[in-house]
Amino acid sequence: MNDLLKFITCGSVDDGKSTLIGHMLYDAKLLFTDQEKSLIIDSKVGSREGKIDYSLLLDGLMAEREQGITIDVAYRYFTTEKRSFIVADTPGHEEYTRNMAVGASFAELAIILVDASQGILTQTRRHARICSLMGIEHFVFAINKMDLIDFNKDKFNKIKKEIRILLAEFDYKTLNIIPVSATDGDNVTVKSKRMPWYKGESLLNYLENIDVSSVDNEKGFTMPVQRVCRPNHTFRGFQGQIETGRISVGDEITALPSNEKANVKGIINSGKEVNSAEKGCCVTISLDKEVDVSRGCVLVNNTKPFISNMFRVKLLWMDDKKLVAGKNYLLKLGTKKIPAVVMKIKYKINVNSGDEIPVDAIYKNQIAVCDISTSEKIVFDEFSNNPGLGSFILIDRISHMTSACGTVSHSLRRGDNLTWHAMDITREKRAQQKGQSPKTIWFTGLSGSGKSTLANEIEKRLFLKGMHTMTLDGDNVRLGLNKNLGFTEADRIENIRRVAEVNKLLNDAGIVAISSFVSPYERDRMAAKNIVGEDSFIEVYVSTPVEVCEQRDVKELYAKARSGEITNFTGISSPYEVPQNPDITIDTTGITIEEAADKLMAELEKLL
Ligand code: ADX
Repeated sequence: MNDLLKFITCGSVDDGKSTLIGHMLYDAKLLFTDQEKSLIIDSKVGSREGKIDYSLLLDGLMAEREQGITIDVAYRYFTTEKRSFIVADTPGHEEYTRNMAVGASFAELAIILVDASQGILTQTRRHARICSLMGIEHFVFAINKMDLIDFNKDKFNKIKKEIRILLAEFDYKTLNIIPVSATDGDNVTVKSKRMPWYKGESLLNYLENIDVSSVDNEKGFTMPVQRVCRPNHTFRGFQGQIETGRISVGDEITALPSNEKANVKGIINSGKEVNSAEKGCCVTISLDKEVDVSRGCVLVNNTKPFISNMFRVKLLWMDDKKLVAGKNYLLKLGTKKIPAVVMKIKYKINVNSGDEIPVDAIYKNQIAVCDISTSEKIVFDEFSNNPGLGSFILIDRISHMTSACGTVSHSLRRGDNLTWHAMDITREKRAQQKGQSPKTIWFTGLSGSGKSTLANEIEKRLFLKGMHTMTLDGDNVRLGLNKNLGFTEADRIENIRRVAEVNKLLNDAGIVAISSFVSPYERDRMAAKNIVGEDSFIEVYVSTPVEVCEQRDVKELYAKARSGEITNFTGISSPYEVPQNPDITIDTTGITIEEAADKLMAELEKLL
């Protein structure tokens, strides 16, 4: 059994969460004498008429809450004779769902507080659901304020029954339901004499003894590679933390995704050569032969995680900006960080009732089931099988903030059953035949900024030089390939994705592709660059200001947008995100098309 237990407490302020933890610390004599004295003095002016108010112990958190500051997670450490504990204390309101999820992701056990006088509430269901989503398998329900229901056994049993029904929908390993009074200390650290009908242990006793270790060693060995270490020519080691199982010198390992096999030559744990190491150890492993391994690869033995680029997930959305299908993020799973797209939002889960609701967008603090695809095949597993390889975060590519955290439910067959077929005539051969280096010249800017006119002029000049070119224009592509798309955010994302894929195909055909699309979102342009390939993508920002575009209004669309005839019009009723690192910027205000093209060609020639 592990001598450290990490747990989370869930409940709102009124449930007595702080009082419960405070009481535990006090009774277990885990306070410093001066803290104890100040607690007694503070309580004299407090709300409990001179009796000790244990919640004051945790008043740091309360004070933050009163000031309305968004709190992340408060971690508290304490040790009894038998065990050490880390408690994640998080606020219980729905708008703090993400804080609770962060706390739960670190915890092995959840204590969910229930007010005995109120029974199971909507929030109790929410707390249990979030903990379960984040992988907690050990639950304790502390039925608090038993004094308010006169320590009534029947009322307690009724709540107990409701909890069993509630938990039936989750996968869990252990469940205990303990009647307590946090203020008076009944069943907190010692058994209460006021509830002789309760035959179980006190809460602290239970926490000291519960075994939350899993039988990982049967699962086989997995270690995501954090770093390849090469201190000198003779030594090459793979460093990381063992996620599951154990490994010994002489064992065979498989490096994924390359599937190469080798035997373990040596293991270094905390600076010392060892014969074997197990789950949780941070080690350096050397092998008896060279294999293709870099950061993000996974070493395994006796287990087979998935290698694919599509999987179904359950995620918790934490970003102020909504999630719509098609959006591109960085996915971090294990030690791998890779561009990924949320292909499809299957449904949203009502955290209070568990209902599955079909939706087009996901907002902050909502939980959803989605399909994700990564730009390359990666190594992952189902969360229930391997939490380390089955949980991930999505990172916003522009702000670098965490937008979501989630768990992998299963791999999607489509991803498993598709394999890239290599052709004999390659992109390089086609390019060589044409005597050019295929590139994608991507024009972005407002409608009327001069993108299409410039694209046309540039293509003429390249064509005259004997280059093989093709131009894709927003309006033209929307009359054909993309005729099923409009101008909502989701449709624009899909528009740009398809066009980027076509550009890539054109480049593969050896052609210099020119694209002229408003492409108003920075992350979509980044995604396009990813699809096309960084080295082939030239971003040209036509920066003509909106006032000038509106004055020109060649297609009379600005007038229509102003009158409300067209909705979501970029620059007027829909945003345009200015490119952060364009390769070339050109403003067509007050210059002729020839002058603009001359300027642009001078820049382009350096890059083509
Ligand atoms: S994008 O935003 O998805 O990149 P795209 O470049 O394909 O847009 O199409 C933009 C062209 O469609 C504009 O040049 C304009 O002629 C026309 N258009 C029609 N409605 C809109 C709108 N609501 N917003 C922007 N452009 C529009």
